[in-house]
Amino acid sequence: MMTRKEILAELKSLEPWFHSIDLGGGITTKTVSVMGEPVDHPHEPWQVIQQCLPRDLHGKSLLDVGCNAGFYSFEAKRRGAGHVLGVDGQRHHIRQAVFVRKVLGLDLEFRRMNVYELDQRRMGQFDITLALGLIYHLKHLVLALENLYNVTRETLIIETAIMPPERAPASFSHPLGEDQMRLHPLALVENPRDAKEQVFNWFLPSVEALQALLRNTGFDSIEVIEVKNERAVLICQKTADGSEQGARLHYLAALSLEAGAPSCQPEEELSFTLRVKNSGLTRWPAQGEGPSDKGAIHLGAHLMHANDEEISWDYGRANLPQDLEPGAEAVIGIILRAPREPGRYIVEFDMVSEYVAWFEDFSSATLRHELVVKEQGVRYALPPSTRKTTGKISC
Ligand SMILES: C[S@@+](CC[C@H](N)C(=O)[O-])C[C@H]1O[C@@H](n2cnc3c(N)ncnc32)[C@H](O)[C@@H]1O
Repeated sequence: MMTRKEILAELKSLEPWFHSIDLGGGITTKTVSVMGEPVDHPHEPWQVIQQCLPRDLHGKSLLDVGCNAGFYSFEAKRRGAGHVLGVDGQRHHIRQAVFVRKVLGLDLEFRRMNVYELDQRRMGQFDITLALGLIYHLKHLVLALENLYNVTRETLIIETAIMPPERAPASFSHPLGEDQMRLHPLALVENPRDAKEQVFNWFLPSVEALQALLRNTGFDSIEVIEVKNERAVLICQKTADGSEQGARLHYLAALSLEAGAPSCQPEEELSFTLRVKNSGLTRWPAQGEGPSDKGAIHLGAHLMHANDEEISWDYGRANLPQDLEPGAEAVIGIILRAPREPGRYIVEFDMVSEYVAWFEDFSSATLRHELVVKEQGVRYALPPSTRKTTGKISC
């Protein structure tokens, strides 16, 4: 338990504070404005953000990206959220958040982590993600939005500066060949060469551009909650099964394992059955163009050591039984050959558009299967991996 004197001394050593957080006993983290924001910041935006959150957060996990000193993470915890993780690119803010956590005695986690480091494989998904006051700081805006999409299970709440509405040109349609494309204004903020900023500003989208960006990222519904003082608050939802019609990424698959052994003998023939769902916008053609089959959609597999070191990227392929429309599923069998060396491996399944791209490149989640190849005295002399496909289709 820290004394009042110790708390005040630590507060001083952790200045400057952007977040005003009530530490009890008449002490708040902040007494002066850092860059013109109100001294009680972020109490005003919190009035809107709290309307976007369920009153009771029990049973919900929450990720706060660009958490700063953790104001929103602490509020989420006070509303009963389960696992709360606040991440920020700047170590100083994580130190502040960790200090406030100690004083308040709340059970939540803070980590120094950049938005570009968010990784669904390592962190899993969170029911609710907050990206408040963040996205105009992002040089790699689209990459960051894809990361935010991937680590979000249900809802992403965005609060951001936008292009001044009265100066933003309207979105418009423009011909592209036979088609019309929709163009949206996105302002680039020029950072002065001699700027001495902790974090720069990069892009200010119009509200329509922001909605289009979020649709392109894959969110099923985007609701604009407030546009005020050149800032906007939006709620972005993913549907539970990702099947709702709307603007989705073109290459998007949902893969689940129906059958496949967790362990095997060296060089044993391995038979896996996967259910694959086309959760994107476009039809998946079973046949491609020309002799190379360019554009055909196949189920593919990579083989990796347990530490993710790549062994064979083109470890196996299986065809679709027939073209797969958006929303349709197929059950596909794929035959692989276990590695010769005993050890721990990962077989990673992904869909591929031949000679175009792996779906992972479009932020589609892969399916990773852990495989243990056991020690064995006798080795089989079997031919290398064969391609074999079975399948049936359902809609
Ligand atoms: C304007 S403050 C907003 C803080 C808080 N979310 C709020 O709304 O009051 C922006 C925060 O985002 C953090 N940030 C900026 N770029 C980041 C990045 N690439 N990854 C993670 N955090 C970042 C900054 O360190 C800072 O704490």
